[in-house]
Amino acid sequence: MNSPIGIFDSGYGGLTILSDIQKRLPQYDFLYLGDNARAPYGTRSFDVVYEFTLEAVEELFSRGCELVILACNTASAKALRTIQQNDLPLIAPNKRVLGVIRPSTEIIGEFSKTNHVGILATEGTVKSDSYPIEIKKFSPNTIVTQLACSMWVPLIENSRHTSIAGQLFIKEDVEKLISNDPEIDVIILGCTHYPILKSFIESIIPSNIKVIAQGPIIAEKLENYLERHPELEAKCSKSGQVSFLTTENSDDFDKKASLFLGAQIKSQHIKL
Ligand code: DGL
Repeated sequence: MNSPIGIFDSGYGGLTILSDIQKRLPQYDFLYLGDNARAPYGTRSFDVVYEFTLEAVEELFSRGCELVILACNTASAKALRTIQQNDLPLIAPNKRVLGVIRPSTEIIGEFSKTNHVGILATEGTVKSDSYPIEIKKFSPNTIVTQLACSMWVPLIENSRHTSIAGQLFIKEDVEKLISNDPEIDVIILGCTHYPILKSFIESIIPSNIKVIAQGPIIAEKLENYLERHPELEAKCSKSGQVSFLTTENSDDFDKKASLFLGAQIKSQHIKL
């Protein structure tokens, strides 16, 4: 059976992660699932995000995936641990689900000179406190300041982030984060939708502040994970194929996905 690596997001954001993973690991097959019909997840409750994420993981497992990456910070914050600890042992003890928060927090200490780090993320990710908790484990002296950017995912999903009004919203949030802690010298884009705003954010902040997108970090950590888990790695099929599933209309998905991937794709509609 074909066994692609599953990449899941609430919508289009995970495509930014897929793109970096594909650049680093082009030999593998990937199956992307965007739950666009139920996005955004950022303002949904813990229980709902967990339930939706588990449904998506089960769908990807049923389509042959042995390994699924939750390319969504909100799902990683609210559902990953429960799925890993409670569900996997029952539904698929040999399969694996990984998230995007821990890999980013492991190395963040390397980027900051002031030990002041800013996190821009969805309301759900910020409220979960996953970033401050995880960063404390690896860089105990780092001061973490978070800001929930509740409008950003809807702006991006609706292609309004480049409008004058959209840019004003984004600028206001970025300035608020920096004024909450003027010593910040690193900002993590803690939502997989946000890399699409990276150059705009860089253009409105002082040049000493580094903006970190997760994609390259996740790609490197995944490569490392596969090297450390040869049995799982051997099960992943390698013919360089990428397929796309969406819970929304597939024509709409195909149009918007090209914005994130810079390439034309053809997706299939599914129901979860
Ligand atoms: N890309 C998701 C994340 O990384 C966005 C969540 C949402 O749907 O609000 O958090």
